[in-house]
Amino acid sequence: MNEKKYHIFQEFVENIKKEERYRNFFEITRLRHSWPVVQHNGRNVTVWCGTDYLSMSVHSVVIEAVQKTIENHGVGSGGTRNIAGTYDFIVELENSLADLHKKEKGLVFSSGYLSNLASIQAIGNISNKKMIIFSDELNHASIIEGIRASGCEKFIFNHNDMDHLEKLISSFPIDTPKLIVFESIYSMNGNIADIQGIVNIATKYNCLTYVDEVHAVAVYGERGAGICDILDLSDKIDIIQGSLSKGFGVIGGYITGNATIIDAIRSGSSGFIFTSTMPIPITSACLASVNYLKKSKIERNKHWENASKILKLFDLHGISVLSHRSNIMSVPIYGAKKSAEVSKYMNENFNLYIQHINYPTVKKGEERLRITTNPSHTDEMIEYFVNSLSKTLKILNVENWNESNVLMHSSNLNAIYNKILHLESNH
Ligand SMILES: Cc1ncc(COP(=O)(O)O)c(C=O)c1O
Repeated sequence: MNEKKYHIFQEFVENIKKEERYRNFFEITRLRHSWPVVQHNGRNVTVWCGTDYLSMSVHSVVIEAVQKTIENHGVGSGGTRNIAGTYDFIVELENSLADLHKKEKGLVFSSGYLSNLASIQAIGNISNKKMIIFSDELNHASIIEGIRASGCEKFIFNHNDMDHLEKLISSFPIDTPKLIVFESIYSMNGNIADIQGIVNIATKYNCLTYVDEVHAVAVYGERGAGICDILDLSDKIDIIQGSLSKGFGVIGGYITGNATIIDAIRSGSSGFIFTSTMPIPITSACLASVNYLKKSKIERNKHWENASKILKLFDLHGISVLSHRSNIMSVPIYGAKKSAEVSKYMNENFNLYIQHINYPTVKKGEERLRITTNPSHTDEMIEYFVNSLSKTLKILNVENWNESNVLMHSSNLNAIYNKILHLESNH
């Protein structure tokens, strides 16, 4: 690169390379009939990461919906909903999502990231930047960007720390507009939020609540409505946000809530109004997935069965995980270099793909392997995977930084976990 005007880009990349956080993507060919085995450089490799928690990306219900919709309705949406017409599938999807979360209205965006960014930004516009936002320190980048774009004053509370949250909130008058934003299950460590604690504080101090259920929808609850639903707290949360790209296996994001709130966000959100609607077959696939998972428990059951088998085998092999109580199994590996080495070793020696997670996705020194399973993993695959991971950790002499979930603060979290685990094991 000899163009002088490009030097800032070059320096940026050189710096992240020096810091060992340059991202090399792992190229794969996904094959419908062999999933979770994919092709990588001409080899069969089994995938142990990602967020296709229920293998819905290859489910016949979803694929048939796409095929039928393409045949009858074509592909593109024709533009934005404002100027090109709002097609029926997306209205149906919004109604189905509202029903899933027992809310009055839903609003669909083209990704989960956009739904957070655009909705929180809109809340800033709607309130003339007067909303004070309280955000958990481990919230996802899309929430952080949404808060930045909202222009509102923000306060970050320590992860899941209700005392800290209350201390921050109690310094504001009761009638100041306030919003607490958090995730129901945190994507990188599998911790579940103290939702009851947040609801109590929100009620006491007259705050709005916004929960990101991206990693919980489809996977948790009788109908896949997520963790608030399991805890019977959906009606205490003002806005429930979710993704259609993880457990539901397609792409897209959404919010659900009270009709007035959703109508205001629909009207005040640049990221909703000024972008084209999702392609019709994709919306149809989302609708098929959401409606199917409201009824079918087969995929959820198998997912949970596999997760619990893996956790048991981890115990046997002495492999520590950050949260023993969720479907997101993060194995701590100290150091960006070491975690990359583990991933590489697993791929080259055992034909396994497990992505290492580095800064800035997680804090420096808290690098990890984020392991996820899906209903397509067989018992043989599970055993082979855990044996291979155990061997790799020994061979590479890996140092664990597990601090046995220091990330949890609140004493009533145990009760929450017990309730969730009890319900999931009764699936
Ligand atoms: C907590 C959380 N919220 C939102 C998103 C964005 O969702 P999507 O991938 O559908 O854009 C992610 C993505 O990983 C996430 O982890």
